[in-house]
Amino acid sequence: MLTPSRRAVATTLIRVLGEGKRVPDGWDRKLSGADAGLAQAMLGLVLRRWGRLRAWSRPHLADPSRDLPLGTDIALALGLVQLAWLDGVAPHAAVHESVNLVADPELGFPPHRGLVNAILRKASKDRAVLRADLEALPAALDRGPFAEKLLAAATGPVEADPEALWARLQVPPKPAFVPLREEPLPEGMEADPEVPGAYRLQEGAPFPLAWLQFGAGMVQDRSSQALMAFKWDKEPQRILDVCAAPGGKATVLGRRWPAAKLMALEQQAARAERLKENLAARRVEAEVQVTEATAWLAGGGRPFDLILLDAPCSGSGTLQKHPELPWIGDGIDLRGLVLRQRQLLEAAALRLAPGGLLIYAVCSWLPEEGEAHRVWIQARVPGLKPIPVWEGPCAAEGGIAFRPHPLTWQGEGFQGFSFTRE
Ligand SMILES: C[S@@+](CC[C@H](N)C(=O)[O-])C[C@H]1O[C@@H](n2cnc3c(N)ncnc32)[C@H](O)[C@@H]1O
Repeated sequence: MLTPSRRAVATTLIRVLGEGKRVPDGWDRKLSGADAGLAQAMLGLVLRRWGRLRAWSRPHLADPSRDLPLGTDIALALGLVQLAWLDGVAPHAAVHESVNLVADPELGFPPHRGLVNAILRKASKDRAVLRADLEALPAALDRGPFAEKLLAAATGPVEADPEALWARLQVPPKPAFVPLREEPLPEGMEADPEVPGAYRLQEGAPFPLAWLQFGAGMVQDRSSQALMAFKWDKEPQRILDVCAAPGGKATVLGRRWPAAKLMALEQQAARAERLKENLAARRVEAEVQVTEATAWLAGGGRPFDLILLDAPCSGSGTLQKHPELPWIGDGIDLRGLVLRQRQLLEAAALRLAPGGLLIYAVCSWLPEEGEAHRVWIQARVPGLKPIPVWEGPCAAEGGIAFRPHPLTWQGEGFQGFSFTRE
């Protein structure tokens, strides 16, 4: 019988590698603490090294040019990552579990039981050699055209070696936190010296699940925190978060200007529910509308003094957190996203009050999702004027743009820009 952790990993890998879908939120929810930790490690390793794991297996086949069923490749990959990098897993367990996996008619390919058993048993004889052999294979095997595109986009405008960036992106990110209440900080949490108001965990400190569940704090990437630390001295009366769920940035807006009227739009009903729950747990007052924002904005009404558009995007800047991106990115409808971003941006700009602030942001490195819109919208909507609102390491172009350095900044890849209206 396959253990629950391996079953959860195999099911998720089939979804990503077979169906081109993202790793679903909560894919490991049913696993207990230790099992969840093992499953997360296995999934991350297979996704981050999928290209080289497959390349390693091929010379071990009687016919190396032969294609293997996905279930066989997954069983081999899962066995190999345990043998090479997870010292706590006994070799016989790694081999036995992969044989169980390939023998499962729903997940594997039962005729390949013998093949998987033979390859993994041989590999288990010297785990150090296996690890060295796998690490010696070229890193470029682990990335397809989408990954190459985002590396080029991220490193194009700055001095940064794409291989060094790729290596940085292969290490799972460290979480960053925002305390929301006057509660004692959880064990091992300390201030992040580079981002005012941000907190991080000391090495080895336990993840503060109870603290987060209690609403005493939230997880928010360092880049998002730095983006939201924009300077703005005016007191906005009416604030709009155009694409608001799950509500991290709306929380920052609501806490910073508690007297303002905050509206938060979200198209997807289930995500809007989560947004409402998050805002309530964090004691942030907002009017949440479940609606398509372009049409809602175009419907007319009073202007807003501050508008945040954290637009839907490819998420190319989140590769460190989402190692499935290199394998599903080519299926992303980039042209469709760029069009939606423009529609949202124009509709938002037209609802900005004179003297107000519009912030556009995407967690992407692709210039067509960020920088290109900055130029386009200025030509499109009369009276928009860039205004400097960022300082510090992520500020670009004198503070009118937000662009964390891909290599030296530890955080998600982001692009942002700010406008006021005359
Ligand atoms: C990048 S996420 C926003 C993250 C959020 N600002 C935060 O910090 O938690 C984009 C959100 O916009 C929603 N969305 C996408 N297109 C939309 C549209 N046309 N109208 C309203 N919401 C939309 C998505 O469902 C998603 O929840």
